[in-house]
Amino acid sequence: MPKLQGRVGLLTGSATGIGRAGALLFASEGAALATLDNNQAEGERTVTTIRQAGGRATFINGDVSNPGDVQRAVAAAVAEYGKLDLVWSNAGIGVFKTVPDTDVDEWDRIVGVNLKGAYLVGKYAIPEIIKAGGGTVVITGSVNSFVADRQWAAYCATKGGVLMLAKAMALDHAPDGVRVNCVCPGSVDTALQERWLRARSSLPYEDAVAADQAAHPLGRYAEPEEVARAALFLSCDDSRFTTGSAVMVDGGLTAQ
Ligand SMILES: NC(=O)c1ccc[n+]([C@@H]2O[C@H](COP(=O)([O-])OP(=O)(O)OC[C@H]3O[C@@H](n4cnc5c(N)ncnc54)[C@H](O)[C@@H]3O)[C@@H](O)[C@H]2O)c1
Repeated sequence: MPKLQGRVGLLTGSATGIGRAGALLFASEGAALATLDNNQAEGERTVTTIRQAGGRATFINGDVSNPGDVQRAVAAAVAEYGKLDLVWSNAGIGVFKTVPDTDVDEWDRIVGVNLKGAYLVGKYAIPEIIKAGGGTVVITGSVNSFVADRQWAAYCATKGGVLMLAKAMALDHAPDGVRVNCVCPGSVDTALQERWLRARSSLPYEDAVAADQAAHPLGRYAEPEEVARAALFLSCDDSRFTTGSAVMVDGGLTAQ
């Protein structure tokens, strides 16, 4: 039995990387999906791939830091598929800088996408999830929800923030039957990871990758789908007694 049969979801950051893998996986497990991203071409490509495989998905071109766009995405899920059971706030960005070097605009943008975006999805989606009789919220945190990296200050601040946001929402909405959790990846093979590593390391890129992989006790990066599988666990009944928690998908990075 598909794990999300009959469920309707909203997923942000669905155009590339972890979110794209998540959209394909959730749709293959039976969910009908509204997907929100500001990369129109790739966002539409995700939806086309899902439809070609016989799944149900719709794309909303918008910015997770814009209240109107998030409202539009929640409304699209309900209008298209009749209700909303689950959301995964996954869109995220970062800039490789210390606090003094981070421009005020950069700070506002990173906080706007990573933290305010997760707040907006919660704000507009939770009332619909309650109307549907309960469901789940997942937010993509990071190992940086627990430990910091150098020159990654704004990003680390937001990833710490979303973990506490998830815990606060978990407490407030447990009586409503809404569970809220974070999925926290280590290094995942995506465009965001490559940009971060190229900025961070003076080594040739292949050597930097090898060193970063070796820092993970399992000795490699996660595939985007491996993160999506943890988010699937948190979005289906297999995790029915799990709320306010973080699932690490970090190959043991934060165990040491
Ligand atoms: N790749 C890693 O190693 C890693 C590790 C830990 C956490 N994460 C987190 O995973 C999530 C997904 O990142 P990824 O690695 O797949 O990178 P990615 O850059 O491939 O994906 C990010 C997605 O978010 C979208 N997006 C960015 N800004 C947006 C906005 N304002 N509105 C709507 N959509 C927007 C992008 O278009 C893209 O589709 C992020 O929250 C990131 O912080 C990634």
